Amino acid sequence: KTVFVLNGPNLNMLGKREPGIYGGKTLKDVEADCISACRELGLDVDFRQSNHEGDLVSWLHEAGEHSVGVAINAGAYTHTSVALHDAIKAITVPVIEVHISNVHAREEFRHHSRIAPACKGVICGFGPTSYILALHALKSITD
Ligand code: DQA
Repeated sequence: KTVFVLNGPNLNMLGKREPGIYGGKTLKDVEADCISACRELGLDVDFRQSNHEGDLVSWLHEAGEHSVGVAINAGAYTHTSVALHDAIKAITVPVIEVHISNVHAREEFRHHSRIAPACKGVICGFGPTSYILALHALKSITD
């Protein structure tokens, strides 16, 4: 069983980017944590990042064919992207929206998610642990 973990714009900057908000771990560290969590959960993980909206759209389509579920941190596209909303709607595997920070405790423009209505659920505010919680959720809903 394979799950996709998809990361959107600026997440390649994790560790350097606003560490007071996002912490000191790099995306490589988060990937390593996801790989070890998935090993314990008996899942295979395909972990990716892109700064381009279209890549995320294509990867969601791919996940619809080749995964049992998706955890996606769409970064700022969360708040803007009808294309990601539609891509999530276009696939039948469950998609979980993930955020490192508590978007609801931040600027107003981060309070609304364009993708949440298309997702199975949302996990935010637990730092990089948000990803691990999403993997546990995927495991339990796909068992
Ligand atoms: C984020 C929150 C978004 O509002 C922001 O644009 C990001 C990261 C998070 O993981 O907390 O890039 O998705």
